[in-house]
Amino acid sequence: MNRRDRPRVIANFAMTADGKVSTRAHTPAAFTSPRDKRRLLEIRALGDAILVGRNTVATDTMSMRIRDRALRASRRAKGLPAEPLRVIVSARGNLDPAWKVFRSPGARRIVFSTRQMPGATRRAILPLCELHLFDAASLPIAEVLSILRRDHDVRTLVCEGGPTLFRSLVEIGALDTLHLTVAPLIFGGRDAPTLTGTHPDFLASIRHFRLESLRTHGGECYLRYRAIRQ
Ligand SMILES: NC(=O)c1ccc[n+]([C@@H]2O[C@H](COP(=O)([O-])OP(=O)(O)OC[C@H]3O[C@@H](n4cnc5c(N)ncnc54)[C@H](OP(=O)(O)O)[C@@H]3O)[C@@H](O)[C@H]2O)c1
Repeated sequence: MNRRDRPRVIANFAMTADGKVSTRAHTPAAFTSPRDKRRLLEIRALGDAILVGRNTVATDTMSMRIRDRALRASRRAKGLPAEPLRVIVSARGNLDPAWKVFRSPGARRIVFSTRQMPGATRRAILPLCELHLFDAASLPIAEVLSILRRDHDVRTLVCEGGPTLFRSLVEIGALDTLHLTVAPLIFGGRDAPTLTGTHPDFLASIRHFRLESLRTHGGECYLRYRAIRQ
Protein backbone atom coordinates (compact mmCIF):
# COMPACT_ATOMS: atom_id res chain seq x y z
CA MET A 1 0.00 0.00 0.00
CA ASN A 2 1.27 3.45 -0.93
CA ARG A 3 2.52 5.31 2.16
CA ARG A 4 0.90 8.58 1.00
CA ASP A 5 -2.57 6.98 1.04
CA ARG A 6 -2.50 5.98 4.68
CA PRO A 7 -1.47 7.21 8.14
CA ARG A 8 1.84 6.31 9.74
CA VAL A 9 1.01 3.09 11.58
CA ILE A 10 2.46 2.30 15.01
CA ALA A 11 1.63 -1.01 16.69
CA ASN A 12 2.13 -1.81 20.34
CA PHE A 13 2.15 -5.29 21.86
CA ALA A 14 3.34 -7.11 24.95
CA MET A 15 4.53 -10.68 24.64
CA THR A 16 6.11 -13.39 26.76
CA ALA A 17 9.60 -14.78 26.22
CA ASP A 18 7.97 -17.55 24.17
CA GLY A 19 6.16 -15.01 21.99
CA LYS A 20 2.65 -15.33 23.39
CA VAL A 21 0.42 -12.28 23.56
CA SER A 22 -2.55 -13.64 25.41
CA THR A 23 -3.12 -15.11 28.84
CA ARG A 24 -5.35 -18.11 29.53
CA ALA A 25 -8.05 -15.58 30.46
CA HIS A 26 -7.48 -13.77 27.12
CA THR A 27 -6.36 -10.57 28.79
CA PRO A 28 -3.80 -8.68 26.74
CA ALA A 29 -2.20 -6.44 29.34
CA ALA A 30 -2.56 -8.42 32.55
CA PHE A 31 0.91 -9.95 32.46
CA THR A 32 3.05 -6.82 32.37
CA SER A 33 4.12 -4.26 34.97
CA PRO A 34 2.55 -0.89 35.87
CA ARG A 35 5.53 0.65 34.05
CA ASP A 36 4.50 -1.12 30.84
CA LYS A 37 0.90 -0.04 31.26
CA ARG A 38 2.10 3.54 31.56
CA ARG A 39 4.16 3.06 28.43
CA LEU A 40 1.07 1.79 26.63
CA LEU A 41 -0.71 5.05 27.44
CA GLU A 42 2.27 7.12 26.31
CA ILE A 43 2.28 5.29 22.98
CA ARG A 44 -1.50 5.64 22.72
CA ALA A 45 -1.06 9.37 23.20
CA LEU A 46 1.05 9.55 20.00
CA GLY A 47 -1.97 8.78 17.85
CA ASP A 48 -4.58 10.85 16.07
CA ALA A 49 -6.56 7.61 16.32
CA ILE A 50 -6.33 4.23 18.04
CA LEU A 51 -7.26 1.15 16.04
CA VAL A 52 -8.38 -2.09 17.72
CA GLY A 53 -9.96 -5.35 16.55
CA ARG A 54 -13.32 -6.53 17.81
CA ASN A 55 -12.05 -9.32 20.06
CA THR A 56 -9.53 -7.15 21.86
CA VAL A 57 -12.15 -4.51 22.63
CA ALA A 58 -14.38 -7.28 24.00
CA THR A 59 -11.84 -9.30 26.00
CA ASP A 60 -10.00 -6.36 27.54
CA THR A 61 -13.21 -4.37 28.16
CA MET A 62 -11.38 -1.40 26.67
CA SER A 63 -12.56 2.18 26.92
CA MET A 64 -9.74 3.18 24.51
CA ARG A 65 -9.40 6.43 26.45
CA ILE A 66 -6.61 8.62 27.84
CA ARG A 67 -7.62 9.85 31.25
CA ASP A 68 -4.17 10.88 32.48
CA ARG A 69 -4.09 14.66 32.91
CA ALA A 70 -0.43 15.12 31.99
CA LEU A 71 -0.81 13.15 28.76
CA ARG A 72 -3.97 15.03 27.84
CA ALA A 73 -2.25 18.35 28.55
CA SER A 74 0.80 17.44 26.50
CA ARG A 75 -1.43 16.51 23.56
CA ARG A 76 -3.28 19.82 23.83
CA ALA A 77 0.04 21.68 23.97
CA LYS A 78 0.86 20.11 20.59
CA GLY A 79 -2.47 21.31 19.19
CA LEU A 80 -4.05 17.86 19.33
CA PRO A 81 -7.40 16.97 20.89
CA ALA A 82 -7.05 15.57 24.43
CA GLU A 83 -7.75 12.03 23.22
CA PRO A 84 -7.33 10.15 19.94
CA LEU A 85 -10.28 8.93 17.86
CA ARG A 86 -11.41 5.42 18.78
CA VAL A 87 -11.60 3.10 15.79
CA ILE A 88 -12.89 -0.50 15.86
CA VAL A 89 -12.87 -3.06 13.03
CA SER A 90 -15.12 -6.09 12.78
CA ALA A 91 -16.07 -7.82 9.52
CA ARG A 92 -19.02 -9.70 11.03
CA GLY A 93 -20.11 -6.79 13.17
CA ASN A 94 -21.08 -8.58 16.36
CA LEU A 95 -20.50 -5.60 18.62
CA ASP A 96 -22.22 -4.96 21.90
CA PRO A 97 -23.47 -1.43 22.56
CA ALA A 98 -23.05 -2.15 26.28
CA TRP A 99 -19.24 -2.41 25.91
CA LYS A 100 -17.26 0.14 27.88
CA VAL A 101 -15.96 1.78 24.70
CA PHE A 102 -19.52 2.66 23.68
CA ARG A 103 -20.54 3.79 27.14
CA SER A 104 -17.55 5.90 28.20
CA PRO A 105 -17.18 9.57 27.33
CA GLY A 106 -14.14 10.60 25.32
CA ALA A 107 -13.21 10.96 21.68
CA ARG A 108 -15.43 10.08 18.72
CA ARG A 109 -15.83 6.40 17.84
CA ILE A 110 -15.64 5.08 14.31
CA VAL A 111 -16.67 1.51 13.49
CA PHE A 112 -15.70 -0.18 10.22
CA SER A 113 -17.68 -3.28 9.37
CA THR A 114 -19.59 -4.94 6.53
CA ARG A 115 -23.20 -5.65 5.56
CA GLN A 116 -22.89 -8.78 7.68
CA MET A 117 -23.49 -6.64 10.76
CA PRO A 118 -26.83 -7.70 12.24
CA GLY A 119 -29.58 -5.10 11.77
CA ALA A 120 -30.28 -4.89 15.50
CA THR A 121 -26.60 -4.13 16.20
CA ARG A 122 -26.59 -1.47 13.50
CA ARG A 123 -29.56 0.29 15.00
CA ALA A 124 -28.15 0.05 18.52
CA ILE A 125 -24.68 1.41 17.78
CA LEU A 126 -25.61 4.03 15.18
CA PRO A 127 -26.27 6.75 17.80
CA LEU A 128 -22.96 5.87 19.50
CA CYS A 129 -20.50 6.01 16.62
CA GLU A 130 -19.81 6.83 13.02
CA LEU A 131 -20.51 3.60 11.14
CA HIS A 132 -18.86 2.59 7.84
CA LEU A 133 -20.37 -0.53 6.30
CA PHE A 134 -18.59 -2.07 3.32
CA ASP A 135 -20.55 -4.14 0.78
CA ALA A 136 -17.78 -6.74 0.52
CA ALA A 137 -17.91 -9.89 2.68
CA SER A 138 -14.47 -9.15 4.09
CA LEU A 139 -13.29 -5.80 5.30
CA PRO A 140 -10.77 -4.01 3.04
CA ILE A 141 -8.27 -2.90 5.68
CA ALA A 142 -6.25 -0.82 3.17
CA GLU A 143 -9.38 1.18 2.41
CA VAL A 144 -10.00 1.66 6.13
CA LEU A 145 -6.56 3.25 6.40
CA SER A 146 -7.19 5.45 3.35
CA ILE A 147 -10.53 6.65 4.74
CA LEU A 148 -8.93 7.47 8.09
CA ARG A 149 -6.20 9.46 6.36
CA ARG A 150 -8.40 11.22 3.80
CA ASP A 151 -11.67 11.83 5.66
CA HIS A 152 -10.55 12.04 9.29
CA ASP A 153 -7.11 13.61 8.90
CA VAL A 154 -5.47 10.73 10.79
CA ARG A 155 -1.74 11.10 10.28
CA THR A 156 -0.61 8.76 13.02
CA LEU A 157 -2.57 5.62 13.84
CA VAL A 158 -1.78 3.53 16.92
CA CYS A 159 -2.85 -0.11 16.62
CA GLU A 160 -3.20 -1.91 19.97
CA GLY A 161 -4.06 -5.28 18.45
CA GLY A 162 -5.09 -7.84 18.48
CA PRO A 163 -3.03 -10.29 16.49
CA THR A 164 -5.62 -10.83 13.71
CA LEU A 165 -5.73 -7.13 13.01
CA PHE A 166 -1.97 -6.83 13.33
CA ARG A 167 -1.41 -9.62 10.80
CA SER A 168 -3.73 -7.93 8.31
CA LEU A 169 -1.73 -4.69 8.58
CA VAL A 170 1.56 -6.53 8.15
CA GLU A 171 0.18 -8.40 5.14
CA ILE A 172 -0.53 -5.18 3.26
CA GLY A 173 2.81 -3.66 4.28
CA ALA A 174 1.18 -1.01 6.44
CA LEU A 175 3.25 -1.23 9.60
CA ASP A 176 5.86 1.46 10.21
CA THR A 177 6.83 1.10 13.87
CA LEU A 178 6.45 -1.79 16.28
CA HIS A 179 6.70 -1.27 20.03
CA LEU A 180 7.18 -4.56 21.78
CA THR A 181 7.38 -5.33 25.48
CA VAL A 182 8.99 -8.68 26.22
CA ALA A 183 7.92 -9.92 29.65
CA PRO A 184 9.98 -12.48 31.58
CA LEU A 185 7.38 -15.25 31.45
CA ILE A 186 6.68 -18.38 29.47
CA PHE A 187 3.06 -19.35 28.83
CA GLY A 188 3.42 -22.22 26.37
CA GLY A 189 0.30 -23.30 24.52
CA ARG A 190 0.49 -24.44 20.91
CA ASP A 191 -2.71 -22.58 20.11
CA ALA A 192 -1.98 -19.51 22.21
CA PRO A 193 -1.73 -16.48 19.88
CA THR A 194 1.59 -14.91 18.95
CA LEU A 195 1.90 -11.43 17.45
CA THR A 196 0.30 -12.66 14.23
CA GLY A 197 -2.30 -14.79 15.95
CA THR A 198 -2.92 -18.47 15.38
CA HIS A 199 -2.99 -18.40 11.58
CA PRO A 200 -1.27 -21.59 10.37
CA ASP A 201 0.38 -20.03 7.30
CA PHE A 202 3.62 -18.12 6.98
CA LEU A 203 3.29 -14.57 5.68
CA ALA A 204 3.65 -14.31 1.89
CA SER A 205 7.04 -12.69 2.46
CA ILE A 206 9.35 -12.05 5.39
CA ARG A 207 9.06 -8.57 6.91
CA HIS A 208 12.27 -6.90 8.04
CA PHE A 209 12.76 -4.40 10.85
CA ARG A 210 15.57 -2.31 12.27
CA LEU A 211 15.94 -2.09 16.05
CA GLU A 212 15.70 1.61 16.98
CA SER A 213 15.57 1.44 20.74
CA LEU A 214 16.05 -1.05 23.56
CA ARG A 215 15.39 -0.31 27.21
CA THR A 216 14.90 -2.51 30.22
CA HIS A 217 13.11 -2.10 33.51
CA GLY A 218 12.90 -4.85 36.09
CA GLY A 219 12.64 -8.02 34.06
CA GLU A 220 10.94 -6.36 31.10
CA CYS A 221 12.49 -5.34 27.83
CA TYR A 222 11.02 -2.49 25.76
CA LEU A 223 11.88 -2.62 22.08
CA ARG A 224 11.10 -0.27 19.23
CA TYR A 225 11.47 -1.53 15.69
CA ARG A 226 11.21 0.43 12.44
CA ALA A 227 9.97 -1.39 9.34
CA ILE A 228 12.46 -1.56 6.48
CA ARG A 229 10.75 -0.84 3.17
CA GLN A 230 11.48 -3.45 0.52
N1 LIG B 1 -0.41 -8.77 24.45
C1 LIG B 1 -0.91 -7.78 23.75
O1 LIG B 1 -0.26 -6.75 23.59
C2 LIG B 1 -2.27 -7.93 23.12
C3 LIG B 1 -2.82 -6.86 22.42
C4 LIG B 1 -4.08 -7.01 21.87
C5 LIG B 1 -4.79 -8.22 22.03
N2 LIG B 1 -4.24 -9.24 22.70
C6 LIG B 1 -4.96 -10.51 22.88
O2 LIG B 1 -5.28 -11.05 21.63
C7 LIG B 1 -6.43 -11.88 21.77
C8 LIG B 1 -7.42 -11.57 20.67
O3 LIG B 1 -6.83 -11.91 19.46
P1 LIG B 1 -7.59 -11.66 18.10
O4 LIG B 1 -6.63 -11.91 17.00
O5 LIG B 1 -8.87 -12.41 18.10
O6 LIG B 1 -7.93 -10.10 18.26
P2 LIG B 1 -8.44 -8.93 17.34
O7 LIG B 1 -7.58 -8.73 16.14
O8 LIG B 1 -8.63 -7.79 18.26
O9 LIG B 1 -9.90 -9.39 16.92
C9 LIG B 1 -10.13 -10.20 15.83
C10 LIG B 1 -11.46 -9.80 15.25
O10 LIG B 1 -11.44 -8.42 14.92
C11 LIG B 1 -11.95 -8.22 13.63
N3 LIG B 1 -10.82 -7.93 12.74
C12 LIG B 1 -9.51 -7.90 13.02
N4 LIG B 1 -8.80 -7.59 11.93
C13 LIG B 1 -9.68 -7.41 10.95
C14 LIG B 1 -9.58 -7.05 9.60
N5 LIG B 1 -8.40 -6.82 9.01
N6 LIG B 1 -10.69 -6.98 8.88
C15 LIG B 1 -11.88 -7.22 9.46
N7 LIG B 1 -12.08 -7.56 10.73
C16 LIG B 1 -10.97 -7.63 11.47
C17 LIG B 1 -12.64 -9.52 13.27
O11 LIG B 1 -13.92 -9.42 13.87
P3 LIG B 1 -15.20 -10.24 13.34
O12 LIG B 1 -14.96 -11.66 13.71
O13 LIG B 1 -16.32 -9.61 14.10
O14 LIG B 1 -15.29 -10.04 11.89
C18 LIG B 1 -11.77 -10.54 13.97
O15 LIG B 1 -12.41 -11.77 14.21
C19 LIG B 1 -7.03 -11.60 23.12
O16 LIG B 1 -6.77 -12.69 23.97
C20 LIG B 1 -6.29 -10.37 23.59
O17 LIG B 1 -6.15 -10.39 24.96
C21 LIG B 1 -2.97 -9.12 23.25
